[in-house]
Amino acid sequence: MQVQSSAKSYREEDVQAVAIAVFKDERADEGFLKELDEATGGVIRSVIESEELKGKEGETVYVHVAPGGVLRARRLLLIGVGDREGYGNPQVSQMAGTAVRYLRGKNAKTVAIVARAEGDGEKTAAAAVEGAVTGLFEPDKYRTVDKEERTIERLSIVVEGADTEGLTRGAERGRIIGESVNFTRDLSNEPGAYMTPTDMADRARQIATEFGLSIDVLDEARMEQEGMGALLSVSRGSDEPAKLIILKYTPRDAAAEQQDGDLLAFVGKGITFDSGGISLKPGENMELMKYDMTGGATVLGAMRAIAQLKPPIPVLGVVPSSENLPSGKATKPGDIVRAMSGKTIEIINTDAEGRLILSDAICYAKKLGAKRIIDMATLTGAVSIALGDVNTAVLGTDQQLIDEIIEAGREVGEKFWQLPLDKEYTKQIKSDIADIKNVGGRKAGTITAAAFLKEFADGVSWAHLDIAGTAWGDEAKPYRSKGPTGIAVRTLLNIVERAPHAQADENSKKSQS
Ligand code: BES
Ligand code: MN
Ligand code: ZN
Repeated sequence: MQVQSSAKSYREEDVQAVAIAVFKDERADEGFLKELDEATGGVIRSVIESEELKGKEGETVYVHVAPGGVLRARRLLLIGVGDREGYGNPQVSQMAGTAVRYLRGKNAKTVAIVARAEGDGEKTAAAAVEGAVTGLFEPDKYRTVDKEERTIERLSIVVEGADTEGLTRGAERGRIIGESVNFTRDLSNEPGAYMTPTDMADRARQIATEFGLSIDVLDEARMEQEGMGALLSVSRGSDEPAKLIILKYTPRDAAAEQQDGDLLAFVGKGITFDSGGISLKPGENMELMKYDMTGGATVLGAMRAIAQLKPPIPVLGVVPSSENLPSGKATKPGDIVRAMSGKTIEIINTDAEGRLILSDAICYAKKLGAKRIIDMATLTGAVSIALGDVNTAVLGTDQQLIDEIIEAGREVGEKFWQLPLDKEYTKQIKSDIADIKNVGGRKAGTITAAAFLKEFADGVSWAHLDIAGTAWGDEAKPYRSKGPTGIAVRTLLNIVERAPHAQADENSKKSQS
Protein backbone atom coordinates (compact mmCIF):
# COMPACT_ATOMS: atom_id res chain seq x y z
CA MET A 1 0.00 0.00 0.00
CA GLN A 2 1.34 3.38 -1.01
CA VAL A 3 0.83 5.96 1.74
CA GLN A 4 0.66 9.71 1.26
CA SER A 5 -0.65 12.70 3.13
CA SER A 6 -2.23 16.00 2.22
CA ALA A 7 -2.84 19.33 3.95
CA LYS A 8 -5.34 20.42 1.29
CA SER A 9 -9.09 19.89 1.26
CA TYR A 10 -10.44 16.34 0.91
CA ARG A 11 -12.56 17.67 -1.95
CA GLU A 12 -9.50 17.67 -4.18
CA GLU A 13 -8.37 14.13 -3.37
CA ASP A 14 -8.06 12.04 -6.50
CA VAL A 15 -9.36 8.81 -4.93
CA GLN A 16 -12.30 6.48 -5.36
CA ALA A 17 -13.54 6.83 -1.80
CA VAL A 18 -13.26 9.30 1.06
CA ALA A 19 -13.85 8.19 4.66
CA ILE A 20 -14.92 10.94 7.04
CA ALA A 21 -15.32 10.97 10.82
CA VAL A 22 -18.68 12.19 12.14
CA PHE A 23 -19.10 13.17 15.79
CA LYS A 24 -22.03 12.25 17.98
CA ASP A 25 -25.11 14.42 17.38
CA GLU A 26 -23.27 16.57 14.86
CA ARG A 27 -25.53 18.81 12.81
CA ALA A 28 -25.62 18.83 9.03
CA ASP A 29 -26.61 22.48 8.75
CA GLU A 30 -23.49 24.03 10.25
CA GLY A 31 -19.70 23.84 10.17
CA PHE A 32 -17.85 20.94 8.58
CA LEU A 33 -20.89 18.83 7.73
CA LYS A 34 -22.65 21.76 6.10
CA GLU A 35 -19.71 22.17 3.73
CA LEU A 36 -19.67 18.44 3.07
CA ASP A 37 -23.41 18.53 2.50
CA GLU A 38 -23.01 21.26 -0.11
CA ALA A 39 -20.16 19.37 -1.77
CA THR A 40 -22.32 16.26 -2.08
CA GLY A 41 -25.62 17.75 -3.21
CA GLY A 42 -27.50 17.36 0.08
CA VAL A 43 -26.58 13.74 0.85
CA ILE A 44 -25.33 14.48 4.37
CA ARG A 45 -28.52 16.24 5.45
CA SER A 46 -30.61 13.35 4.35
CA VAL A 47 -28.35 10.83 6.13
CA ILE A 48 -28.39 12.81 9.38
CA GLU A 49 -32.04 13.87 9.28
CA SER A 50 -33.21 10.34 8.63
CA GLU A 51 -31.29 9.46 11.83
CA GLU A 52 -29.51 6.69 9.96
CA LEU A 53 -26.29 8.12 11.37
CA LYS A 54 -26.10 9.57 14.86
CA GLY A 55 -22.33 9.62 15.07
CA LYS A 56 -22.12 6.86 17.66
CA GLU A 57 -18.78 5.08 17.77
CA GLY A 58 -18.49 2.40 15.10
CA GLU A 59 -21.55 3.42 13.01
CA THR A 60 -21.02 3.46 9.25
CA VAL A 61 -23.00 4.89 6.34
CA TYR A 62 -21.77 4.35 2.81
CA VAL A 63 -23.06 6.30 -0.21
CA HIS A 64 -22.24 6.99 -3.85
CA VAL A 65 -22.36 10.63 -4.83
CA ALA A 66 -23.53 11.94 -8.20
CA PRO A 67 -20.69 13.20 -10.42
CA GLY A 68 -20.24 16.83 -11.37
CA GLY A 69 -19.99 18.29 -7.86
CA VAL A 70 -16.92 19.75 -6.18
CA LEU A 71 -16.03 16.41 -4.58
CA ARG A 72 -13.68 14.46 -6.82
CA ALA A 73 -14.29 11.11 -5.11
CA ARG A 74 -17.51 9.34 -6.04
CA ARG A 75 -17.91 7.32 -2.88
CA LEU A 76 -18.25 8.48 0.66
CA LEU A 77 -18.00 6.52 3.91
CA LEU A 78 -19.20 8.28 7.04
CA ILE A 79 -17.88 6.77 10.26
CA GLY A 80 -19.35 7.58 13.67
CA VAL A 81 -16.62 8.32 16.20
CA GLY A 82 -18.61 9.28 19.30
CA ASP A 83 -18.07 12.39 21.40
CA ARG A 84 -15.81 15.14 20.16
CA GLU A 85 -14.45 15.36 23.68
CA GLY A 86 -11.98 12.58 24.27
CA TYR A 87 -11.48 12.07 20.53
CA GLY A 88 -7.76 11.38 20.26
CA ASN A 89 -5.16 9.19 18.61
CA PRO A 90 -6.61 5.82 19.73
CA GLN A 91 -9.99 6.76 18.21
CA VAL A 92 -8.31 8.04 15.02
CA SER A 93 -6.47 4.74 14.71
CA GLN A 94 -9.71 2.74 15.04
CA MET A 95 -11.57 5.05 12.67
CA ALA A 96 -8.86 4.52 10.04
CA GLY A 97 -8.90 0.75 10.58
CA THR A 98 -12.68 0.71 10.16
CA ALA A 99 -12.38 2.84 7.02
CA VAL A 100 -9.93 0.63 5.16
CA ARG A 101 -11.58 -2.64 6.19
CA TYR A 102 -14.98 -1.39 5.11
CA LEU A 103 -13.77 0.10 1.84
CA ARG A 104 -11.62 -2.90 0.96
CA GLY A 105 -14.83 -4.89 1.29
CA LYS A 106 -16.34 -2.56 -1.33
CA ASN A 107 -13.37 -3.16 -3.60
CA ALA A 108 -12.04 0.41 -3.35
CA LYS A 109 -8.39 0.67 -4.36
CA THR A 110 -7.67 4.30 -3.57
CA VAL A 111 -8.88 5.82 -0.33
CA ALA A 112 -8.59 9.11 1.55
CA ILE A 113 -9.14 9.38 5.30
CA VAL A 114 -10.35 12.55 6.98
CA ALA A 115 -9.98 11.85 10.71
CA ARG A 116 -10.87 15.38 11.87
CA ALA A 117 -8.74 15.30 15.03
CA GLU A 118 -7.66 18.62 16.44
CA GLY A 119 -4.08 19.41 17.40
CA ASP A 120 -0.86 17.84 16.19
CA GLY A 121 -1.24 16.80 12.53
CA GLU A 122 1.88 14.63 12.71
CA LYS A 123 0.38 12.53 15.49
CA THR A 124 -2.95 12.30 13.71
CA ALA A 125 -1.25 11.10 10.54
CA ALA A 126 0.77 8.53 12.50
CA ALA A 127 -2.33 7.19 14.29
CA ALA A 128 -4.35 7.03 11.06
CA VAL A 129 -1.69 5.18 9.07
CA GLU A 130 -0.94 2.80 11.95
CA GLY A 131 -4.67 2.08 12.27
CA ALA A 132 -5.04 1.50 8.53
CA VAL A 133 -2.02 -0.79 8.28
CA THR A 134 -3.10 -2.90 11.26
CA GLY A 135 -6.70 -2.79 10.03
CA LEU A 136 -5.79 -4.53 6.80
CA PHE A 137 -4.04 -7.47 8.48
CA GLU A 138 -5.71 -10.83 7.87
CA PRO A 139 -4.73 -14.09 9.57
CA ASP A 140 -5.63 -16.12 6.46
CA LYS A 141 -2.10 -16.62 5.10
CA TYR A 142 -2.52 -20.36 4.54
CA ARG A 143 -5.95 -20.22 2.90
CA THR A 144 -6.09 -21.05 -0.77
CA VAL A 145 -9.84 -20.43 -1.11
CA ASP A 146 -11.92 -17.54 0.23
CA LYS A 147 -8.73 -15.66 0.97
CA GLU A 148 -8.93 -11.87 1.21
CA GLU A 149 -7.08 -10.92 -1.97
CA ARG A 150 -8.29 -7.34 -2.24
CA THR A 151 -5.98 -4.56 -1.12
CA ILE A 152 -5.99 -0.80 -0.83
CA GLU A 153 -3.33 0.34 -3.28
CA ARG A 154 -3.08 3.98 -2.29
CA LEU A 155 -4.01 5.62 1.01
CA SER A 156 -4.09 9.33 1.60
CA ILE A 157 -4.32 10.95 5.04
CA VAL A 158 -5.92 14.38 4.87
CA VAL A 159 -5.35 16.93 7.63
CA GLU A 160 -6.38 20.25 6.18
CA GLY A 161 -4.05 23.12 7.01
CA ALA A 162 -1.41 20.95 8.70
CA ASP A 163 2.33 21.25 8.21
CA THR A 164 3.12 18.95 5.27
CA GLU A 165 6.55 17.88 6.52
CA GLY A 166 5.02 16.89 9.85
CA LEU A 167 2.35 14.89 8.02
CA THR A 168 4.96 13.04 5.99
CA ARG A 169 6.97 12.25 9.12
CA GLY A 170 3.86 11.12 10.98
CA ALA A 171 2.70 8.91 8.11
CA GLU A 172 6.12 7.23 7.99
CA ARG A 173 6.11 6.64 11.76
CA GLY A 174 2.62 5.18 11.51
CA ARG A 175 3.72 2.83 8.75
CA ILE A 176 6.71 1.59 10.78
CA ILE A 177 4.60 1.02 13.89
CA GLY A 178 1.70 -0.60 12.01
CA GLU A 179 3.99 -2.96 10.09
CA SER A 180 5.80 -3.92 13.29
CA VAL A 181 2.52 -4.67 15.07
CA ASN A 182 1.58 -6.85 12.08
CA PHE A 183 4.98 -8.54 12.22
CA THR A 184 4.22 -9.57 15.82
CA ARG A 185 0.74 -10.76 14.82
CA ASP A 186 2.10 -12.80 11.93
CA LEU A 187 4.57 -14.58 14.22
CA SER A 188 1.86 -15.28 16.82
CA ASN A 189 -0.35 -16.74 14.16
CA GLU A 190 2.22 -19.20 12.80
CA PRO A 191 1.61 -22.83 13.70
CA GLY A 192 4.13 -24.45 16.02
CA ALA A 193 5.60 -26.46 13.15
CA TYR A 194 6.54 -23.28 11.26
CA MET A 195 7.60 -21.26 14.29
CA THR A 196 10.02 -23.34 16.36
CA PRO A 197 12.59 -21.69 18.65
CA THR A 198 15.07 -21.97 15.75
CA ASP A 199 12.58 -20.21 13.44
CA MET A 200 12.09 -17.46 16.01
CA ALA A 201 15.84 -16.93 16.21
CA ASP A 202 15.99 -16.80 12.40
CA ARG A 203 13.27 -14.13 12.31
CA ALA A 204 15.21 -12.16 14.93
CA ARG A 205 18.38 -12.44 12.81
CA GLN A 206 16.46 -11.18 9.79
CA ILE A 207 15.28 -8.04 11.53
CA ALA A 208 18.72 -7.48 13.07
CA THR A 209 20.29 -7.58 9.61
CA GLU A 210 17.58 -5.64 7.81
CA PHE A 211 17.19 -2.80 10.32
CA GLY A 212 20.53 -2.75 12.11
CA LEU A 213 20.42 -4.29 15.59
CA SER A 214 23.11 -6.30 17.32
CA ILE A 215 22.14 -9.90 17.98
CA ASP A 216 23.33 -12.86 20.00
CA VAL A 217 21.56 -16.23 20.16
CA LEU A 218 22.50 -18.59 22.98
CA ASP A 219 22.23 -22.29 22.18
CA GLU A 220 21.68 -24.98 24.82
CA ALA A 221 25.43 -25.48 25.39
CA ARG A 222 25.80 -21.83 26.34
CA MET A 223 22.68 -22.02 28.50
CA GLU A 224 24.36 -24.90 30.38
CA GLN A 225 27.46 -22.76 30.90
CA GLU A 226 25.29 -19.97 32.29
CA GLY A 227 23.53 -22.41 34.61
CA MET A 228 20.08 -21.80 33.13
CA GLY A 229 18.51 -24.90 34.67
CA ALA A 230 14.99 -23.48 34.65
CA LEU A 231 14.93 -22.68 30.93
CA LEU A 232 16.63 -25.97 30.03
CA SER A 233 14.16 -27.99 32.13
CA VAL A 234 11.33 -26.80 29.87
CA SER A 235 13.02 -27.71 26.58
CA ARG A 236 14.16 -31.12 27.82
CA GLY A 237 11.03 -32.86 26.56
CA SER A 238 11.34 -31.46 23.05
CA ASP A 239 13.47 -32.45 20.05
CA GLU A 240 13.71 -28.79 19.07
CA PRO A 241 16.58 -27.04 20.84
CA ALA A 242 15.79 -23.97 22.95
CA LYS A 243 17.19 -20.55 22.01
CA LEU A 244 17.79 -17.44 24.04
CA ILE A 245 17.58 -14.49 21.66
CA ILE A 246 19.26 -11.20 22.57
CA LEU A 247 18.73 -8.09 20.45
CA LYS A 248 20.20 -4.73 21.26
CA TYR A 249 19.50 -1.29 19.90
CA THR A 250 22.17 1.35 20.56
CA PRO A 251 21.58 4.96 19.52
CA ARG A 252 24.27 6.48 17.32
CA ASP A 253 25.36 9.37 19.48
CA ALA A 254 25.87 9.83 23.24
CA ALA A 255 28.60 8.12 25.24
CA ALA A 256 28.23 4.38 25.83
CA GLU A 257 28.36 4.44 29.63
CA GLN A 258 25.88 7.30 29.73
CA GLN A 259 23.57 5.31 27.49
CA ASP A 260 23.60 2.14 29.55
CA GLY A 261 23.18 3.88 32.91
CA ASP A 262 19.46 3.19 32.95
CA LEU A 263 19.32 0.33 30.44
CA LEU A 264 15.75 -0.69 29.62
CA ALA A 265 15.07 -4.34 28.72
CA PHE A 266 12.02 -6.04 27.24
CA VAL A 267 11.78 -9.74 28.02
CA GLY A 268 9.15 -11.90 26.26
CA LYS A 269 7.94 -15.48 26.73
CA GLY A 270 8.64 -17.46 23.58
CA ILE A 271 6.98 -20.86 24.07
CA THR A 272 6.40 -21.82 20.43
CA PHE A 273 3.96 -24.54 21.46
CA ASP A 274 2.63 -25.25 24.95
CA SER A 275 1.16 -28.74 25.27
CA GLY A 276 1.57 -28.52 29.04
CA GLY A 277 4.37 -31.12 29.00
CA ILE A 278 3.89 -34.16 31.28
CA SER A 279 1.09 -32.17 32.96
CA LEU A 280 -0.62 -32.39 29.59
CA LYS A 281 -3.34 -29.91 28.73
CA PRO A 282 -6.83 -31.08 27.65
CA GLY A 283 -7.20 -31.34 23.87
CA GLU A 284 -9.92 -28.74 23.54
CA ASN A 285 -8.48 -25.47 22.16
CA MET A 286 -4.95 -26.76 22.49
CA GLU A 287 -4.26 -25.56 18.93
CA LEU A 288 -4.33 -22.00 20.26
CA MET A 289 -1.20 -22.74 22.27
CA LYS A 290 0.81 -21.89 19.13
CA TYR A 291 0.41 -18.27 20.30
CA ASP A 292 2.24 -18.93 23.58
CA MET A 293 5.27 -17.20 22.04
CA THR A 294 3.40 -13.91 21.70
CA GLY A 295 5.36 -12.19 24.49
CA GLY A 296 8.54 -12.99 22.55
CA ALA A 297 6.96 -11.87 19.26
CA THR A 298 5.96 -8.62 20.97
CA VAL A 299 9.57 -7.99 21.94
CA LEU A 300 10.76 -8.76 18.39
CA GLY A 301 8.08 -6.49 16.87
CA ALA A 302 8.97 -3.67 19.23
CA MET A 303 12.70 -4.03 18.52
CA ARG A 304 11.98 -4.06 14.78
CA ALA A 305 10.23 -0.71 15.10
CA ILE A 306 12.79 0.76 17.52
CA ALA A 307 15.59 0.05 15.05
CA GLN A 308 13.75 2.25 12.52
CA LEU A 309 12.37 4.94 14.83
CA LYS A 310 15.82 5.43 16.38
CA PRO A 311 14.94 6.78 19.83
CA PRO A 312 17.80 8.34 21.84
CA ILE A 313 17.97 5.58 24.50
CA PRO A 314 19.39 2.04 24.18
CA VAL A 315 17.01 -0.92 24.45
CA LEU A 316 17.68 -4.58 25.09
CA GLY A 317 15.30 -7.32 23.85
CA VAL A 318 15.49 -10.78 25.42
CA VAL A 319 13.43 -13.74 24.21
CA PRO A 320 13.74 -17.18 25.80
CA SER A 321 12.25 -19.61 23.30
CA SER A 322 11.35 -23.28 23.75
CA GLU A 323 8.68 -25.86 23.08
CA ASN A 324 6.86 -27.45 26.03
CA LEU A 325 6.27 -31.09 25.13
CA PRO A 326 6.02 -34.42 26.93
CA SER A 327 8.51 -37.17 26.12
CA GLY A 328 10.66 -39.80 27.81
CA LYS A 329 13.17 -37.09 28.59
CA ALA A 330 10.70 -34.47 29.77
CA THR A 331 10.82 -32.85 33.19
CA LYS A 332 8.37 -34.46 35.61
CA PRO A 333 6.24 -33.00 38.38
CA GLY A 334 8.29 -33.36 41.54
CA ASP A 335 11.61 -32.67 39.81
CA ILE A 336 13.82 -29.95 41.20
CA VAL A 337 15.75 -27.58 38.96
CA ARG A 338 18.33 -24.91 39.71
CA ALA A 339 17.82 -21.52 38.06
CA MET A 340 20.65 -19.27 36.86
CA SER A 341 20.20 -17.15 39.98
CA GLY A 342 21.04 -20.19 42.11
CA LYS A 343 17.48 -20.58 43.44
CA THR A 344 16.09 -24.12 43.48
CA ILE A 345 12.60 -24.70 42.09
CA GLU A 346 10.28 -27.62 42.73
CA ILE A 347 8.27 -28.35 39.60
CA ILE A 348 4.70 -29.01 40.70
CA ASN A 349 3.12 -28.68 37.28
CA THR A 350 5.07 -28.74 34.01
CA ASP A 351 2.35 -26.57 32.46
CA ALA A 352 3.56 -23.60 34.52
CA GLU A 353 6.55 -23.36 32.16
CA GLY A 354 6.45 -19.68 31.18
CA ARG A 355 7.66 -18.45 34.56
CA LEU A 356 10.54 -20.96 34.39
CA ILE A 357 11.95 -19.73 31.09
CA LEU A 358 11.35 -16.09 32.07
CA SER A 359 13.21 -16.46 35.36
CA ASP A 360 16.47 -17.30 33.60
CA ALA A 361 15.87 -14.68 30.91
CA ILE A 362 15.32 -11.96 33.53
CA CYS A 363 18.54 -13.06 35.23
CA TYR A 364 20.44 -12.87 31.97
CA ALA A 365 19.01 -9.43 31.18
CA LYS A 366 20.37 -8.27 34.54
CA LYS A 367 23.75 -9.81 33.69
CA LEU A 368 23.74 -7.74 30.48
CA GLY A 369 23.24 -4.59 32.55
CA ALA A 370 19.46 -4.05 32.46
CA LYS A 371 18.27 -1.64 35.17
CA ARG A 372 14.62 -1.50 34.18
CA ILE A 373 12.89 -4.67 32.98
CA ILE A 374 9.43 -5.08 31.49
CA ASP A 375 8.54 -8.71 30.82
CA MET A 376 5.49 -9.84 28.88
CA ALA A 377 3.92 -13.25 28.59
CA THR A 378 0.81 -15.26 27.85
CA LEU A 379 1.39 -16.50 31.36
CA THR A 380 -1.90 -17.53 32.97
CA GLY A 381 -5.40 -18.60 32.00
CA ALA A 382 -6.46 -16.94 35.24
CA VAL A 383 -5.91 -13.46 33.80
CA SER A 384 -8.77 -14.01 31.33
CA ILE A 385 -11.05 -14.87 34.23
CA ALA A 386 -10.03 -11.68 36.05
CA LEU A 387 -9.87 -9.14 33.21
CA GLY A 388 -11.26 -10.81 30.09
CA ASP A 389 -9.90 -9.61 26.76
CA VAL A 390 -10.19 -5.91 27.56
CA ASN A 391 -7.40 -5.14 30.03
CA THR A 392 -3.87 -6.50 30.19
CA ALA A 393 -2.70 -7.22 33.74
CA VAL A 394 0.31 -5.29 34.96
CA LEU A 395 2.16 -6.10 38.17
CA GLY A 396 5.61 -5.24 39.47
CA THR A 397 7.94 -3.81 42.05
CA ASP A 398 8.30 -0.24 40.79
CA GLN A 399 5.11 1.84 40.96
CA GLN A 400 6.64 4.57 38.80
CA LEU A 401 7.35 2.10 35.99
CA ILE A 402 3.85 0.61 36.32
CA ASP A 403 2.26 4.07 36.15
CA GLU A 404 4.38 4.84 33.10
CA ILE A 405 3.12 1.69 31.36
CA ILE A 406 -0.53 2.45 32.18
CA GLU A 407 -0.20 6.04 30.94
CA ALA A 408 1.76 5.09 27.82
CA GLY A 409 -0.93 2.51 27.07
CA ARG A 410 -3.73 5.00 27.54
CA GLU A 411 -2.15 7.30 24.95
CA VAL A 412 -2.15 4.57 22.30
CA GLY A 413 -5.45 2.94 23.23
CA GLU A 414 -4.12 -0.15 25.02
CA LYS A 415 -5.61 -0.73 28.46
CA PHE A 416 -3.60 -2.00 31.43
CA TRP A 417 -4.99 -2.76 34.85
CA GLN A 418 -2.74 -3.19 37.84
CA LEU A 419 -3.12 -6.23 40.10
CA PRO A 420 -1.62 -6.21 43.60
CA LEU A 421 1.62 -7.99 44.41
CA ASP A 422 1.81 -7.89 48.21
CA LYS A 423 4.50 -10.01 49.80
CA GLU A 424 1.85 -12.25 51.40
CA TYR A 425 1.26 -13.91 48.02
CA THR A 426 4.83 -15.21 48.03
CA LYS A 427 3.83 -17.67 50.78
CA GLN A 428 1.82 -19.57 48.20
CA ILE A 429 4.96 -20.45 46.23
CA LYS A 430 7.13 -21.62 49.16
CA SER A 431 8.23 -25.23 48.71
CA ASP A 432 8.82 -27.79 51.45
CA ILE A 433 11.82 -29.24 49.68
CA ALA A 434 13.25 -26.45 47.49
CA ASP A 435 13.41 -22.63 47.67
CA ILE A 436 10.22 -22.11 45.71
CA LYS A 437 7.71 -24.11 43.67
CA ASN A 438 6.36 -23.20 40.26
CA VAL A 439 2.65 -23.22 41.15
CA GLY A 440 0.88 -21.38 43.96
CA GLY A 441 -2.46 -23.18 44.09
CA ARG A 442 -5.85 -22.16 42.73
CA LYS A 443 -6.12 -18.75 44.34
CA ALA A 444 -4.87 -15.60 42.58
CA GLY A 445 -3.15 -17.50 39.76
CA THR A 446 -2.00 -14.40 37.85
CA ILE A 447 -0.57 -12.85 41.00
CA THR A 448 1.30 -15.92 42.22
CA ALA A 449 2.83 -16.32 38.74
CA ALA A 450 4.10 -12.74 39.04
CA ALA A 451 5.23 -13.42 42.62
CA PHE A 452 7.36 -16.23 41.18
CA LEU A 453 8.99 -13.87 38.66
CA LYS A 454 9.55 -11.28 41.36
CA GLU A 455 11.96 -13.73 43.03
CA PHE A 456 14.28 -13.19 40.07
CA ALA A 457 13.78 -9.47 39.55
CA ASP A 458 15.45 -8.21 42.71
CA GLY A 459 17.83 -5.28 42.35
CA VAL A 460 16.11 -3.77 39.31
CA SER A 461 13.00 -1.81 38.52
CA TRP A 462 10.59 -4.43 37.18
CA ALA A 463 7.09 -4.77 35.74
CA HIS A 464 5.30 -7.77 34.27
CA LEU A 465 2.50 -7.83 31.67
CA ASP A 466 0.21 -10.87 31.49
CA ILE A 467 -1.12 -10.72 27.93
CA ALA A 468 -2.81 -14.16 27.88
CA GLY A 469 -6.28 -12.59 27.71
CA THR A 470 -5.55 -9.73 25.32
CA ALA A 471 -3.12 -11.18 22.77
CA TRP A 472 -5.83 -13.07 20.87
CA GLY A 473 -9.19 -11.73 19.68
CA ASP A 474 -11.88 -14.40 19.37
CA GLU A 475 -14.06 -12.03 17.36
CA ALA A 476 -13.32 -9.56 14.57
CA LYS A 477 -13.86 -5.85 15.25
CA PRO A 478 -14.80 -3.28 12.59
CA TYR A 479 -11.21 -2.02 12.74
CA ARG A 480 -9.36 -5.31 13.20
CA SER A 481 -9.54 -8.94 12.12
CA LYS A 482 -9.95 -11.72 14.64
CA GLY A 483 -6.88 -13.60 15.81
CA PRO A 484 -3.59 -12.14 17.06
CA THR A 485 -3.94 -8.53 18.25
CA GLY A 486 -0.31 -7.44 18.62
CA ILE A 487 -1.16 -6.06 22.06
CA ALA A 488 1.53 -4.05 23.88
CA VAL A 489 3.83 -3.34 20.90
CA ARG A 490 2.46 0.22 20.61
CA THR A 491 2.69 0.77 24.36
CA LEU A 492 6.31 -0.39 24.50
CA LEU A 493 7.17 1.94 21.64
CA ASN A 494 5.44 4.82 23.35
CA ILE A 495 7.41 4.12 26.54
CA VAL A 496 10.67 4.22 24.63
CA GLU A 497 9.71 7.40 22.80
CA ARG A 498 8.47 9.09 25.98
CA ALA A 499 11.54 8.05 27.97
CA PRO A 500 13.77 11.02 27.10
CA HIS A 501 10.99 13.47 28.02
CA ALA A 502 10.34 11.67 31.30
CA GLN A 503 14.03 11.82 32.03
CA ALA A 504 14.22 15.50 31.14
CA ASP A 505 11.29 16.15 33.49
CA GLU A 506 13.09 14.33 36.29
CA ASN A 507 16.25 16.33 35.68
CA SER A 508 14.44 19.66 35.68
CA LYS A 509 12.70 18.65 38.93
CA LYS A 510 16.09 17.82 40.42
CA SER A 511 17.67 21.07 39.29
CA GLN A 512 14.73 23.03 40.68
CA SER A 513 14.98 21.51 44.15
N1 BES B 1 0.41 -20.65 28.29
C1 BES B 1 -0.35 -20.97 29.44
C2 BES B 1 -1.32 -19.87 29.84
C3 BES B 1 -2.49 -19.67 28.93
C4 BES B 1 -3.64 -20.40 29.10
C5 BES B 1 -2.43 -18.73 27.93
C6 BES B 1 -4.72 -20.20 28.26
C7 BES B 1 -3.50 -18.52 27.12
C8 BES B 1 -4.65 -19.24 27.26
C9 BES B 1 0.58 -21.23 30.63
O1 BES B 1 1.78 -21.81 30.32
C10 BES B 1 -0.15 -22.17 31.51
O2 BES B 1 -0.37 -23.28 31.12
N2 BES B 1 -0.52 -21.72 32.71
C11 BES B 1 -1.23 -22.52 33.62
C12 BES B 1 -0.61 -22.33 34.97
C13 BES B 1 -1.07 -23.32 35.99
C14 BES B 1 -0.55 -24.70 35.66
C15 BES B 1 -0.58 -22.87 37.35
C16 BES B 1 -2.69 -22.07 33.61
O3 BES B 1 -2.96 -20.89 33.51
O4 BES B 1 -3.55 -22.95 33.67
MN1 MN C 1 1.67 -23.89 30.18
ZN1 ZN D 1 2.48 -21.43 28.44
